[in-house]
Amino acid sequence: MPYSNQPTVTASGVEIPLLGFGTWQLEPDDARRMVREALRIGYRHIDTAWIYKNEKTVGDGIADAVAEGIVTRDDIFVTTKIWVEHFHRDALLRQAEESALSLGLTPDLLLLHWPKPTPALDETIGALNEAQEKGFTRHIGLSNFPSALFRQAAALSTAPLITNQVEYHPYLSQKTLIETARELGSSITAWSPLAQGQIADDAVIGDIAKAHGKTHGQVTLRWIIQQGVIAIPRTAKETRAAENFDIFDFELSAEEMARIHALARPDGRLGDWLDAAFQWDKDAV
Ligand SMILES: NC(=O)c1ccc[n+]([C@@H]2O[C@H](COP(=O)([O-])OP(=O)(O)OC[C@H]3O[C@@H](n4cnc5c(N)ncnc54)[C@H](OP(=O)(O)O)[C@@H]3O)[C@@H](O)[C@H]2O)c1
Repeated sequence: MPYSNQPTVTASGVEIPLLGFGTWQLEPDDARRMVREALRIGYRHIDTAWIYKNEKTVGDGIADAVAEGIVTRDDIFVTTKIWVEHFHRDALLRQAEESALSLGLTPDLLLLHWPKPTPALDETIGALNEAQEKGFTRHIGLSNFPSALFRQAAALSTAPLITNQVEYHPYLSQKTLIETARELGSSITAWSPLAQGQIADDAVIGDIAKAHGKTHGQVTLRWIIQQGVIAIPRTAKETRAAENFDIFDFELSAEEMARIHALARPDGRLGDWLDAAFQWDKDAV
């Protein structure tokens, strides 16, 4: 079994571990320490990006874990992203190669970080496919693409776009996009799954957590993966990395799931860098 028997979602035949470890805002040294520690705890999916300026030390953390016999390369799933300034063909291929070199491995998944109106989508999607053909990544996908654009990109792509990584947590609905991903045979990956820590003060989540003998963070991550959505929480603390991994031994009832869904609110979005040329899905404003 891949990924040490961890729960996965399958998108266009590709298995992706439902729980990953995020590395945004981790300083290079913290990234190395935390990635190695996350793999030791049991995470089998690591998320980084060129713009996080830590691909090299994320790669070092993975290499440390491999050297110590904690994991093998093929038992982990590694994602990185093409920054928006590299969307022309040549720049995209250059960065794809650079990212693989920095990581010290061919990533499993290479995403377009945020949609841009220029260059035209067909050039960028074509270049992303070329990056895969040239062996700079195993698979390709998107990040922060609203449904209409997600459909356009899927229609333009030769290879399947196996995920669309977007902000998703209890305070932001992504019902439309989750349905779009399902229709397209793709998947959704939730960034800021803990609403950047805001869930820690939530009374409803606290109530449910108490009933299960779990923490606010564990209930929130369970709510996400129980929908078949991938979650990639980030922490700079070893104890929290272990806490956030301990979500596979309990289940939320349909009623508990619904109570958390009901927390979505119109001002729930935390990070909005969508180009003015595009619009979010109506339920995710
Ligand atoms: N594609 C994109 O555009 C995009 C955008 C943003 C993020 N991402 C990816 O998604 C990952 C996760 O998102 P994120 O880093 O924005 O936010 P997050 O995972 O929702 O929250 C991280 C924050 O929550 C705290 N935290 C961690 N575990 C906790 C727990 N169990 N209880 C309470 N607080 C907890 C952390 O603090 P401590 O460090 O003190 O524990 C940190 O401040 C990123 O690291 C990145 O890989 C992608």
